[in-house]
Amino acid sequence: MGPLELYEKLTEQGDQVRALKTAKANKEEIDVAVQLLLKLKLEYKQVTGQEYKAGCPPPENLVAPDNGPAAAAGDNDDDDDDTVDPWNVSTTNAKGVDYDKLIVRFGSSKVDQELLNRMEKVAGQKLHRFLRRGIFFSHRDMNQILDSYEKQKSFYLYTGRGPSSEAMHVGHLIPFIFTKWLQDVFDIPLVIQLTDDEKYLWKDLTLEECNRFSMENAKDIIACGFDVNKTFIFSDLDYMGASREFYRNVVKVQKHVTFNQVKGIFGFSDSDCIGKISFPAIQAAPSFSNSFPQIFGNRKDIACLIPCAIDQDPYFRMTRDVAPRIGYPKPALLHSTFFPALQGAQTKMSASDANSSIFLTDTPKQIKNKINKHAFSGGKDTVEEHRKHGGNAEVDVSFMYLTFFLEDDDELEKIKQDYTSGALLTGELKKILIETLQPMIAQHQERRKQVTDETVKLFMTPRPLNFKI
Ligand code: TYM
Repeated sequence: MGPLELYEKLTEQGDQVRALKTAKANKEEIDVAVQLLLKLKLEYKQVTGQEYKAGCPPPENLVAPDNGPAAAAGDNDDDDDDTVDPWNVSTTNAKGVDYDKLIVRFGSSKVDQELLNRMEKVAGQKLHRFLRRGIFFSHRDMNQILDSYEKQKSFYLYTGRGPSSEAMHVGHLIPFIFTKWLQDVFDIPLVIQLTDDEKYLWKDLTLEECNRFSMENAKDIIACGFDVNKTFIFSDLDYMGASREFYRNVVKVQKHVTFNQVKGIFGFSDSDCIGKISFPAIQAAPSFSNSFPQIFGNRKDIACLIPCAIDQDPYFRMTRDVAPRIGYPKPALLHSTFFPALQGAQTKMSASDANSSIFLTDTPKQIKNKINKHAFSGGKDTVEEHRKHGGNAEVDVSFMYLTFFLEDDDELEKIKQDYTSGALLTGELKKILIETLQPMIAQHQERRKQVTDETVKLFMTPRPLNFKI
């Protein structure tokens, strides 16, 4: 298809999606239409080198650029306001980042109804609420992971945390809660990387502080309930020096990625220290099974699945690009949306802004005060107006938080309806959230208290794990 023909098809498809949404068509039908729209947008960008914009047809004398999907992925040279990378997440849209657009920009795939149905079949149980509610919304090669699993070829999980402070916030729990569910459902090994080296390179912290935060954060991670027989947690500062195989993989990646490539992917500049420039190779290495000989022996062919929020994708785009060149399979990914800041979905919850976050160390009183004082409300200014016009759940942070943590789908739907109709007031909605989060965090703190230094040591000792691959 030529650029103009593509443009017209895209415009038509955009109208079609809008019509389906207005008519409140069923989710599957909308999903199919959105998928086609995204595919066309990607094709358009590849053909024209420009982002599709309604009302702006391509110039007649357009010269098609020489760029494939890799060039389309990851750059943010278009006109949209969303910034998503490992260090920044921001948008001007009160509803949050436009995740459908992000899929096109990053070149990943949508977790659509077909994939969900398949996962449910393979898992043999109701899907986790993060999947049911589109929180894990994007993936790379998830179908290949399921194909192999169905043929009795298992895989391992890899996720991580950059220990920048002693306390983690509720947003950090998202990938770990989900990873725990995956570990239970598929009964597979898991490696968790604590990038204390990364935090030393990026933050104004000493090596000792970063390493200590690793141990503290490990306790919060263990409190999520991981199986000690199937989980290996490691600090880069400790494991890199102890594992020949791990370091060999780091060096292999370093040899096959140029400075220009990491500049393009991560936006490094000439004045960034060389530690930052070579760090992505260290986050890449756990994606290859032979980085862990104590677990996988010398096997380098075991598939890896990485659950994380989509801010980490740049690391893994680089990893997937380099993997075949060094003789390894590409890791698969499942990406989540961001748990928003209290002040609104324009940015993610971040540990560097205490008022934007609910920490896992917060007391019930702090949780209550933070939500009442800071949680952005989609409610109206007065009770009368709210009763008359209803609130806007789509921008309401308390409602967004409930979509992450309230298990019961029917209850959540009822809250949405009542809030939208005006039957439920902002204060009442906040109360429901407070009563959901207070026990959840108190239980986490209780479980964390049970995690002794001995337990941490056990999880962090390189050793064989118990599994069948
Ligand atoms: P870090 O410590 O920034 O984040 C840890 C994990 O939490 C996710 N995350 C969030 N998820 C939802 N909502 C939020 N507001 C939110 N903030 C953070 C991150 O995506 C991540 O999954 N460089 C990494 C550490 C790392 C890693 C990995 C992460 C090393 N290897 C493999 C994921 C997978 C980091 O600093 O994460």
